[in-house]
Amino acid sequence: MKALVKEKAEPGLWLADVPEPRPGPADVLIRVLRTGICGTDLHIRSWDGWAREAVSTPLVLGHEFVGEVAAVGGEVQTVAVGDLVSGEGHLVCGECRNCLAGRRHLCRGTIGLGVGRDGAFAEYVALPATNVWAHRTPVDLDVAAIFDPFGNAVHTALSFPAVGEDVLITGAGPIGVMAAAVVRHAGARNVVVTDVSEPRLELARKAGASLALNVSTATVADAQRELGLREGFDIGLEMSGRPEAMRDMLDNMTHGGRIAMLGLPAEEFAVDWARIVTSMITVKGIYGREMYETWYAMSVLLEGGLDISPVITGRYDYRDFDAAFDEAASARSGKIILDWTV
Ligand SMILES: NC(=O)c1ccc[n+]([C@@H]2O[C@H](COP(=O)([O-])OP(=O)(O)OC[C@H]3O[C@@H](n4cnc5c(N)ncnc54)[C@H](O)[C@@H]3O)[C@@H](O)[C@H]2O)c1
Ligand SMILES: [Zn+2]
Ligand SMILES: [Zn+2]
Repeated sequence: MKALVKEKAEPGLWLADVPEPRPGPADVLIRVLRTGICGTDLHIRSWDGWAREAVSTPLVLGHEFVGEVAAVGGEVQTVAVGDLVSGEGHLVCGECRNCLAGRRHLCRGTIGLGVGRDGAFAEYVALPATNVWAHRTPVDLDVAAIFDPFGNAVHTALSFPAVGEDVLITGAGPIGVMAAAVVRHAGARNVVVTDVSEPRLELARKAGASLALNVSTATVADAQRELGLREGFDIGLEMSGRPEAMRDMLDNMTHGGRIAMLGLPAEEFAVDWARIVTSMITVKGIYGREMYETWYAMSVLLEGGLDISPVITGRYDYRDFDAAFDEAASARSGKIILDWTV
């Protein structure tokens, strides 16, 4: 089968012929229909310091996908051939304290699909049946392809009740934009989204942001004034991974404010801890999606009318992966989809 492979320990990505995965008795074989390109895939293509540490070659990339079940192992009863499915890309150990308690998103032994093992940028992918989410209600294929990052947005955005609250989201990448749509749908009063990229701020406006703020020309304090906020934001969702964004957020939170932090900083950085203490701010780290509460929430939010489709801004034939990756890396686009059915 065709697959996008990191063949060599150097920058680049190769379209190669590789053997089809062979599913075990508890696995599902999925014919991949569409995939989404994630920042992680861009890191692996460019072969930066993180990728050199995390990845051994050869590796089939990709963890955001939708596909159709092509075969199931003898022990699988929850999904059937023909089901439309997306996949949870975190494979958990099943044996640690958190796994045993049912808190699988807190597993200490998580392996990432398309990072620690072969992934979904291929004509077929095999996954344990316990990692498969079947779409039981009609869903747009492109949207189904990005359930993984949509789940990051939902997990973060629903960390704290948003009804009537003033929410600050730093970073209008695909996940920040989807989070804006989710907190808006969940009843937030004001949703301010910051970025330094105008096209991305425009996507945040389309997703329902009250104010999309370019922090290269204005400050979050300006946004507070413009919206008439008197005491700061109730909820912060950090989705840029940038130290200056986190510091700016801390400076603009209300006392008792709550921050969910998804953005992954490239290195350690300092913040004003005295401010966190005296303003009694909660900071919660978010990794991945809750299994499978977040997945349930995603499906029912869409069923209830949430529309995240504006975040998808590019669609490519998988053979044009280089152009697709370039667009995804431009920091001007939303989510980019590869079509594997052409
Ligand atoms: N914790 C997890 O499980 C998890 C999963 C996926 C992604 N992530 C991380 O979440 C973040 C968001 O993901 P994404 O795919 O949307 O990433 P992205 O890189 O596409 O988006 C980040 C955005 O932040 C913007 N930005 C840069 N400086 C800024 C500043 N000072 N203030 C505000 N915005 C600024 C960038 O222009 C960009 O649009 C990234 O840091 C990513 O690494 C974490
Ligand atoms: Zn991802
Ligand atoms: Zn575990």
